[in-house]
Order: sequence, then structure tokens, then C-alpha cells
Amino acid sequence: LLNKDLAMNKAEYEALYKQHEALRNKVANDPWHLGYHIMPDSGWVNDPNGLCQYHGTYHIYYQYSPFDVEGKTKLWGHMTSKDLLHFKQEEPVLFPDSRCDERGAYSGSAFIEDDTIHYFYTGNVKLMDQDYDFINAGREQNLIHVESKDGIHLSDKEWLMTNSDYPQDMSCHVRDPKIYKQKDAYYMVLGARDLASHGCVLVFESRNLKDWSYKMRFEKENFGYMWECPDLFDLDGDQFLITCPQGLSQKGYHYQNIYQCGYFPMHVDFENETYTMKDFCELDYGFDFYAPQSFEDEKGRRILIGWMGLPDIDYTNPTTENGWQHALTLPRVLTSKNGVIYQTPVEELHQLRTSSYTSTVKAFNDLELLADRYEMAIDIEKQDNFVLQLRKGACLSYDIEKHLLCLSFDACGYGRDKRYVEVEDIKNILVYADTSSLEIFVNDGAIVFTSRVYTTHEDNQIRFMETAMDGNVHFYELGKI
Ligand code: FRU
Repeated sequence: LLNKDLAMNKAEYEALYKQHEALRNKVANDPWHLGYHIMPDSGWVNDPNGLCQYHGTYHIYYQYSPFDVEGKTKLWGHMTSKDLLHFKQEEPVLFPDSRCDERGAYSGSAFIEDDTIHYFYTGNVKLMDQDYDFINAGREQNLIHVESKDGIHLSDKEWLMTNSDYPQDMSCHVRDPKIYKQKDAYYMVLGARDLASHGCVLVFESRNLKDWSYKMRFEKENFGYMWECPDLFDLDGDQFLITCPQGLSQKGYHYQNIYQCGYFPMHVDFENETYTMKDFCELDYGFDFYAPQSFEDEKGRRILIGWMGLPDIDYTNPTTENGWQHALTLPRVLTSKNGVIYQTPVEELHQLRTSSYTSTVKAFNDLELLADRYEMAIDIEKQDNFVLQLRKGACLSYDIEKHLLCLSFDACGYGRDKRYVEVEDIKNILVYADTSSLEIFVNDGAIVFTSRVYTTHEDNQIRFMETAMDGNVHFYELGKI
């Protein structure tokens, strides 16, 4: 290894794991511990990685820093599930323990071919100059391949590409591989920043998943300095590219977060190396959503899971005091119509329902509901202004004249204030609230808000503050997994 400060091997992890039992107990007893989301047993998580279903079992890997709430060391944590609802924590599968990934086993994906899971990920390495100075020296972003026959035991790391294999005009930021197959060819998309600080997606081609050659790139003028975590896929007959551009400035009610995450409706002609790309559409308007990844499960559903968090934010998560930070979003099924992606939480979640209440919007407050975890579906019959309190201090409101939908927080947002989206017509709203999170799906999931929120039990009353609209509400309290 060149330097060990962020490296960690399996033996070191196991020794540290033994020493941190008290920390894991503290996390398990945190009143903000999530009831039905993937979250760290201690420490930090960010991007979902390597999502796949293999021989019936779902494998969810993620960027994981078990002993550090600030997430500096990057391992691949691992959960398995038979039903996308109950998750079993497994040992981490990838450690930053070799010359090609010593400063982080960064994000990557899984691709199943010939009954083998192929993983591709980025090994992060920072180089020092003669004065042992990191800042002036640069970094390697290495493409690494590993394989598995069970999702638990992984083969040795194969170092397939490094900076010199990427186009000459690239900076040292090229990462987050994801595979797309068309006919007999495999295409790998990689997020990148060029030397002029323009973000783009690089496409490499291979016939055997081992030898990759540069093919083409997707880019858009004046659209940020770096694009992270690309994901190219087909959905209901259309093609989409999801990516996370960094460096877009806010424009009206668009790009309200520090970094963005959204999709381009695409049409790629690999043979002629041409493509068309329609306008970028944001996947989420909340405070805590980034770096999602999708995969097709054995039922043929395209499922998306995101990081319920963002890097470099200026709001906070009070859970850091209790030894953990961040989580993954609910798994959501993607569908598309006319170039729009719709997100719907997987139906497996219905099994969490404990009690149910049905009411009109007008009569809803008579139910006097107080719940830490709930699902709430509102079908709107007559639109009008509304303010819906999702928890005390956390509201979703609509201004019908301005066509503005707003998610707002008081102190329970810990610095999260207001996020807006312009919507002409609101037909329905679906809310999934967990102990310290809200996921709100509007108009069949064409518009989504994902956010963390930190209230105490007494403040978890759900009510309409102002109701001038008509409609019906289906409310379910949800259990824990
Ligand atoms: C996105 C990201 C990726 C990188 C990973 C490191 O959140 O910055 O680009 O691979 O996180 O944890």
C-alpha cells in the first residue's frame, strides 16, 4: 500500500467490529432509528452499490464506514433479503485493502451473466508527490472487477483500467461503473469530469466483460463540472440515463440542492456512436436524495434505491450524536410513460400495515392520528389550497394559484427549510413516513420528495391545517421490520 490512513482490511475490520458493540447498541436504541429502511448498524452509509437479485436473493451493497459517522473509510457493506422487506446484515464484501483501492472501495454495480455475478467498482487511490503532499499529486480512479457465485464470497480483485485508459482529456475523476447490455455487446457507463471541468458520462464497450475499449461519451453544454453515478437502462420501451450532476446553479425552483440527481430520456445508437438526449428531469425534490442505482429483479421489475442523504450539505443529522448517519431509500419500482419516470414504493411494503383508517379529507382530523411510522394515500377529487402536517413542524402545502407545492420544516429539519416544485394539477399523494424520514410521491410518483426529519413521538400528529380540497384518505400505521 502507498498509504494506509483510509485503508482497512478484513482482519482489521473484524477486530474493530468486536470493539464497537456498545456503539451498535446505542444506534439500535436511538429513538430516530429507522423502522423499515436500510441503515447502518453503526457509522455511515452512502451510495447503494451492486444491486441485484441472484437465485431469488436480493443483494444490496452500499458504501459503508462502520466506525466513523463522517464516512471517510469506504467499504462495501452488504444486506441480503428474500422479500425486499426483511434484510439480513452480512459481512462487508469489499475492503479498501490493496494497492488499487486503498483510499476507498468506491461505488460500483453488479451484472449477472452466465450465472455469475460480475461486480465493477472504482478503486480510489490518492498519490503523493516527493514531499508526501496529497493535494498537489493527484489520484487514480481504478476500474476493478470481481466475481461471485453467491453474492457473499468474492473472487480476487482484477485491476482492469486506470487513468491512462480513459480519454486523454479526462481529469482524475472517472468513476462509478454500471453495465448495460445490448445484443452481444456490453457497455459500461462511467461518471466523469474532463480537464476543462465539464461533467460527462464515458461509455466503454466489451464483448467479454474483461477487455474494455472507449466508445463514446454523453455530455451536455454548461451542465455541471462532474457527473456521478450514471445508470443507463431501458424502461417500458424507452431508454433513460440517470446521473448526478455537480455544479448546477439553482434556476427558479430547479436544482435546489447542492448536487442534483435526475434523468435524461435517451436514444443511443451504439453502432453509429450517436445519441439524442432530451431535457434533464429531477428525480427528487427533497433534501436527502442522491446516487441512486437501479436493477431488474427476477419479477422483471426495474427497482431503484437511492442514498437517503447528500454529500457536503449544510444541514445536519442529529443521529451523529448517537453513532450513525444516513440510510438508503425505500426500494421503488420505476415505470415510464411519454418520457416521464414514475416511482412507486414496492408493494411488499404493504405487509408492514398494522391498522388502517379511511376517511374523507374533511373528516380526517377527527381521527386524531399520531404515528411514528405510517403510509398515507390521498386521492384528490377537488383541488384547492392545502397545508398537510406530516409531523408537527413538517408540512406539505399547495398554493393553487401559483401551482406551487412546498415541503417545509421548522427546527425539526435541522437546517432543512423549504423545497418547492411547480405542479399544475395534483391528483394524488402517497406518503411513507418512517421514524426519521419522509418519502412523498405525488401524481403517481412523477414528483418525489425524500427527506430526513427529526421529531419526537408526541409531535408526530398527522392532520390537515387548512383543507379546502376534497378527496379521500387511506391511512395505515406501519410496523417495524
Ligand atoms: C457519490 C460518490 C461516488 C463515489 C462514492 C464514494 O456519492 O461520490 O461518486 O464513488 O460516492 O463514496
